This record gives sequence, C-alpha cells and structure tokens, in this order.
Amino acid sequence: TAEEIPNTDIITLTRHILSDQLRLGAAATGDLTLLLNAIQTTSKFIATNVRKARLINLIGLAGETNVQGEEQKKLDVLSNDIMVNALRASRKTAVLVSEELDEAVLIEERLRGRYCVVFDPLDGSSNIDAGVNIGTIFGIYKVASEKGDVSDVLRPGKEMVAAGYTMYGSSCNLVLSTGNGVNGYTLDTALGEFILTHPDIQIPTRGKIYSFNEGNSSYFHPEVVNYLNSIKYPPAGKSPYSARYIGSMVADVHRTLLYGGIFGYPDDRKSKNGKLRLLYEAFPMAFLTEQAGGVATTGRGRILDIVPTSIHERCSVFLGSKDDVNDLLKFYEKA
Ligand code: AHG
Ligand code: MN
Ligand code: MN
Ligand code: MN
Repeated sequence: TAEEIPNTDIITLTRHILSDQLRLGAAATGDLTLLLNAIQTTSKFIATNVRKARLINLIGLAGETNVQGEEQKKLDVLSNDIMVNALRASRKTAVLVSEELDEAVLIEERLRGRYCVVFDPLDGSSNIDAGVNIGTIFGIYKVASEKGDVSDVLRPGKEMVAAGYTMYGSSCNLVLSTGNGVNGYTLDTALGEFILTHPDIQIPTRGKIYSFNEGNSSYFHPEVVNYLNSIKYPPAGKSPYSARYIGSMVADVHRTLLYGGIFGYPDDRKSKNGKLRLLYEAFPMAFLTEQAGGVATTGRGRILDIVPTSIHERCSVFLGSKDDVNDLLKFYEKA
C-alpha cells in the first residue's frame, strides 16, 4: 500500500535553511546558514548525552554555582561547553551569552564572525534526574558594533534575526524561526538529521490549558490571581481550563505552541522581576510565539520591546494564544 513506501523527498533542516537563504538571494552570504548548522550539531551532541546521561554518570551536580546562584548540574556545564566550543569554532560569532557564564564571551579576532548568540544551554535542569523533558534555547542577533561587544546583545528581542529551541523529550524536536514563521523538525536518530515535521506552526487563537507554577500563588499579584480564578471558576455553561506545568520552559512553551493556551511565569511579591531570564529565555520564546501568531507580554508591555540593561536580567513572562493572553491583559488594564 501507499503507506509502506517511504517518502523519498524529505525536507531536512539543512535543506530548509538553505532554501531560506536562496530566497533572500544575493543579500544572503550564507553565514547564518552555517551558524544554524553549527547550532543543529550542538543539539544533536547534547541530545545524545542527555539520552545516555544516566548510564555514563552525567546525572547530578557539577559542584559549582552559576551567576544566578543556581547549583549547576553536570549536564548544564557540559551543554554550555558544547555550545561555546561549537559557536566559537563556527567562525560566525562575535559575542556569546550563556546562562552558565557570568560574563559575555567576546570572540577573538581570528575566529570572529558577524552574529551574536544568546543561549540557555540546558533548560529545565531540575527535571534532568527524573528524565523529564529538557531543552536548549537560543536567540541570534546580527552584530551592530564594529568589533562586537556586549552592547550588541543589549538590544530588544525584536531585533533578533532568528530564535529557536531544541527539546529533548520522547523525541528530539528543534523549533526555529528566522523571522518568516515558525517551523518544527524532529530528529531522525538513524539518519542523524532533523526532518521538517511541523511546517508553519500557528498557535490556536484560544486554548484550554493554563501553565503556571501555582505553588507561588500566595506571592502572585491580584491581577494574576483574579485571571487564574476566572479560568478555574468560569461562568455557568463554560468549562474550566486544564492545568499543565512541567517546569521546563521549553516543554511548557512547546505544548503551548502546539495546543494553545497560556504559559506564565509572572513577577510577584517575592521575585520582583520574575524568574525567567530576558535574553536567553523570554526573548527567544517571545519571538517564536509572535511568529506563530500568539502574544508575549510581561503584563505591562510587549516582551520583544524591552531594552536589556544587563545580560542576566529577568522579566515577567506570559505567552500563548492571542485570546487567552488578551484575557489576562484585561485584568492588568483594570488594575
Ligand atoms: P533553567 O533550568 O535553565 O535554570 O531554567 C529553569 C526555568 C524554566 O525552565 C522553567 O520554566 C522555570 O525555571 C521553572 O521554575 P520553577 O521551578 O520555579 O517553577
Ligand atoms: Mn539554571
Ligand atoms: Mn532555562
Ligand atoms: Mn539552563
């Protein structure tokens, strides 16, 4: 039957970004294509280590604390090293910012290129030991200054030229936007290639799921509490929303992109600026959300408009289906 005949014309990530480059014609030098190629290799490399982590003693703490005061896991450190080495060697980067490094890395002249990459090498560290989905998040700016310095990454997220994440889950999925919609790819481990499986992802206009760490409810501002109550205790005749919270931003955002609904990590009375990091968590995810037709806000303004003042700063995050996020915003407007 037809189902048994394999597709002989698969679209790999490499093929897809190459055709994207050709679409831009002479304007494109191919540097971004090569950079994205380096990033997909890091994802494969991290994915294979994640899969065998339990077997090769890669579970547990590395023994150091990062600039955010978090205890680093061995996989945080390994993933960071994989990314820094590959991005530097790609010769396409000038500035790197990683969750796990206190300072921005300025690439030496010999290897310097024209792009800056901000990344969360391993997102969802607290889930590693339980084998729950984790990921890598990245955002890319084109260098604006002469040599490339920290000013090149202290720019609003709307200036990013690409953003994406890789999720290490029941399958390994890479989701990418170069500013022309969002595409999702699944790693075929036998081929060692990411195959286009989710072309042109569009967030449903409204969902049925909310995704917050409600353990923080007693610190939440009234706007957030009132919004959550409105979806948990809806007017007669309407169904309440379902709760889904994994605690890995990559996994929670991935589900939100595909199923719709709202993901939130608000600032509150305890965490004055929220928890998620602006540069390498909020910006890339806000970029993808908007590219997929959704909304990403702090509650008080568009995330992608924020001008960062330091590389590890945090911000309040709500993102997801347009109608759901706009419902939340009504509570902020009322306040
Ligand atoms: P990371 O593991 O990169 O430090 O990020 C953790 C983040 C993010 O993945 C997730 O959305 C959030 O922290 C979960 O925080 P809580 O455990 O406070 O819910
Ligand atoms: Mn961390
Ligand atoms: Mn993270
Ligand atoms: Mn991390």
